[in-house]
Amino acid sequence: MTKKSLIIIQARMNSKRMPGKVLRNLKNVPTLKWLIEAAKKVNFENKIVVGTSSETSDDILVEWCKTNKIDFYRGSLNNVLRRFVEISNKFKSEIIIRLTADCPFIDPKVIDQLFYLIKKRSVDYVSNTQNRSWPDGLDCEVFTRSALLKCYKNAKNKEDLEHVTRYFYNNKNQFKCINLPFPIGDFSNIRITLDDYNDYKILKKMANFLDFGPNFMDTISIFNKLTIKKANKKFRDGNIYYSENKNFRKSNKIFKSVEAKIPLASQTFSKSYIQLPYKNAPLFITHGKGSYLWDVDGNQYIDFMMGLHSVILGYCDKDVDEGIKEQLDNGINFSLASTLEKKLADILIEMIPSAEMVRFGKNGTDANTGAIRLVREIQRKPKIITCGYHGWNDWYISSTSFDNGIPKDLKKYILPVEYNNIDQLNEVIKKNKEDLAAIIMEPMNAVYPKNDYLKKVRELSIKNNVLLIFDEIITGFRFGLGGAQEYFGVTPDITTIGKGMGNGMPISAIVGKKKFMHKMDKIFFSSTFGGESLSLRGSIATIEKIKKKNVPKKLFELGTYLDVGLKKIIKKHNFQKVISFEGHPCWKIMKVNDSQGVKGNLIKTLLIKGLINNGILINASHNISFSHKKKDLDYVIKVYDKVIKNLKEILGSRFEELKFPPIKPIFMPRKIL
Ligand SMILES: Cc1ncc(COP(=O)(O)O)c(C=O)c1O
Repeated sequence: MTKKSLIIIQARMNSKRMPGKVLRNLKNVPTLKWLIEAAKKVNFENKIVVGTSSETSDDILVEWCKTNKIDFYRGSLNNVLRRFVEISNKFKSEIIIRLTADCPFIDPKVIDQLFYLIKKRSVDYVSNTQNRSWPDGLDCEVFTRSALLKCYKNAKNKEDLEHVTRYFYNNKNQFKCINLPFPIGDFSNIRITLDDYNDYKILKKMANFLDFGPNFMDTISIFNKLTIKKANKKFRDGNIYYSENKNFRKSNKIFKSVEAKIPLASQTFSKSYIQLPYKNAPLFITHGKGSYLWDVDGNQYIDFMMGLHSVILGYCDKDVDEGIKEQLDNGINFSLASTLEKKLADILIEMIPSAEMVRFGKNGTDANTGAIRLVREIQRKPKIITCGYHGWNDWYISSTSFDNGIPKDLKKYILPVEYNNIDQLNEVIKKNKEDLAAIIMEPMNAVYPKNDYLKKVRELSIKNNVLLIFDEIITGFRFGLGGAQEYFGVTPDITTIGKGMGNGMPISAIVGKKKFMHKMDKIFFSSTFGGESLSLRGSIATIEKIKKKNVPKKLFELGTYLDVGLKKIIKKHNFQKVISFEGHPCWKIMKVNDSQGVKGNLIKTLLIKGLINNGILINASHNISFSHKKKDLDYVIKVYDKVIKNLKEILGSRFEELKFPPIKPIFMPRKIL
């Protein structure tokens, strides 16, 4: 007789971390049998099939199935998606329930609930594994056969074929998906899955207290009893630093082969492993949507890096992407200029107070380098005062501690000053007046201008005939529609913008007063991809949306909401002296001080590690985008609460955990005073 529902238990002997785990005993009964007995207890008609591979290593598993009169199916080892399709073809079911051999303590009632949900809501895919709130180890996924077939038709990449359901949750636009949250809150830090020998130790103990198909609350309660009793806290105890609830195995594995071919395994220091907690962070991203990112291990994050500020609206913004796609049909990079340049220039001139003429570049470094060359040409003087970070080019990096590969004598032309120190600026101008072309500064980064600092900078620059450039690569379109210059009411001579202006597309611009900008043709600022049309079109769509939706106002509101919540949490834990967030609400920068003899850098690393482990991708600031949601910010505040509580315990007694390698900053262009 044809059964309408099929429970497929995915199992194989050759697990890398724990070979043969499916037939290892828990209370004298193989793990696999635990799953089968749980599956037998569900409240709907079904067929149970063990889905394994055709590899000889799985012969023993098949023998076990035969002996125990369990249906089985053998298919491809790596193309597990195909294996599932073949099983469903053979057993002709409308609904498929996927269980995996690493979840022996699955509760049949959980399976029932998910089965009920898919029936009742007529969707394609339901699970309790997305936006994880269930303990790790009670995983169940249910999907329709037609959705599985669609998935099989469309899934092309290796990961999607290997991880049967990955294509569902990564392509939610193609499938109706529902996630069942854990009924009593976030218990995702509890780990009762069987993945390695450490798990096995604890599951073996737990099994002595459990029957087949246990109630999940019993499972959790026994887990807690056993782990809390455990004197040696190093053993996984459900606290976030040890739970490894997110795993980064694939990231770490891929890293080795990537690093062999790509130095640093990344194109940017800030996106590389050296700026993230060692082996405890994702290293490779597969895709993003709104303010979410997914990594190669299938983990989902609320992103606070947002492409290093470049994604101001959110990943895959519909309006921007439509503009880009439309342009794509007409061509990418032409042999001559396009009228898109004038269109975007008009928009910038209308919005930015200092803008009367415009030139485009591809990134912030381009724009700043062009602006510096321009002011040197106008002034016929070589020296530049800097304040903040201005990109990777020789002229600026020569002044930092990371000046390898740059002729040492370039250093003498660059004079870095401290933000908010008007006396120092005055002094440096006085000393170098003869040779000084300009001041370039971020109008604000980690701290607000004090005592009319920006106004005084402007006055000093006019008085001394030094040009003033605002580097608004980050602040542009964020602090106000006209950038920080509009927000603070101080207009520079020249402005550079980039990052958010294309919602991720590589584009930047130098804008400024006509009397300076018309000299641009006296300097060599010229590149093959300058004026490339997809970025221009993307930028037009981005800025139009920024204007229409008053994005700076929204960023301010969201950032303030997060900041107020975090301040409460920090106060609750009496941690104000250790952690604070400085700067404008749209770009709050984490400041972490030394505490109880532990270096701030290490505390910050552990904090970031805890956040990442709970699905918050961050590397030292909250880069707010238009797509961040208040409900997610509530979750972020909750996670900070949990992580800071944990951090306090670590600082107080769990010294072992303080051996973690801290992230080291490359250099510190932005001082938080
Ligand atoms: C203020 C500022 N200026 C310039 C740059 C350099 O921009 P890019 O990395 O696009 O060259 C950055 C990059 O982080 C920046 O933050």
